[in-house]
Amino acid sequence: MQNRILVAYATKYGATEQIAVKIGDVLHQTGFKADVLPVDQVETLTTYQAVVLGSAVYAGQWRKEAVAFLENNEKRLAQIPVWFFSSGPTGQGDPVQLMKGWRFPEAQQPIADRIRPRDITFFHGVLDMKKLNLGEKLIVKGFKAPLGDFRDWENITHWAASIAEAVKQDVKQAQLTP
Ligand SMILES: Cc1cc2nc3c(=O)[nH]c(=O)nc-3n(C[C@H](O)[C@H](O)[C@H](O)COP(=O)(O)O)c2cc1C
Repeated sequence: MQNRILVAYATKYGATEQIAVKIGDVLHQTGFKADVLPVDQVETLTTYQAVVLGSAVYAGQWRKEAVAFLENNEKRLAQIPVWFFSSGPTGQGDPVQLMKGWRFPEAQQPIADRIRPRDITFFHGVLDMKKLNLGEKLIVKGFKAPLGDFRDWENITHWAASIAEAVKQDVKQAQLTP
């Protein structure tokens, strides 16, 4: 399990998958083996020394497969270093401000409190009208949500690098502890 990190994601239209791939690339460049997988294709967590878990946000909720993953793997996730991210808001500025204070799905806060992730962050997302179904188009128009790709790759890279650094520090600490 040494040096292997899982980046598990839940996406509907692919924007969150691309964020997960970027995080995996950064982890790989910093010396880790990173498996980037859709949450519903993860078979075991025993081979990973850390987990990064992310989901697209729809109507203030994580995708149901990400919620199921959290619930099914709570015990293991509470034993290893874990990072959570959500992706969604479009428009300029801090995602939390854009989403009026939303940081993480309220329904999953109790499980997050038990797992105690090292960090929970919120990235900008993408809105591409061509991909949405009719109902989604109406919702997006109703909210006048800005269209386009607002993902901040520098911020995503920086966050992934901070994860690599933290896991390396853990390893050093473990080597120092008799
Ligand atoms: C119908 C609909 C509802 C959405 N609701 C939210 C929301 O509540 N909060 C948010 O931050 N983003 C919301 N979004 C934006 C998506 O999270 C964003 O498009 C994201 O990048 C989609 O990721 P995916 O391509 O991985 O599915 C919504 C988008 C749609 C189409």
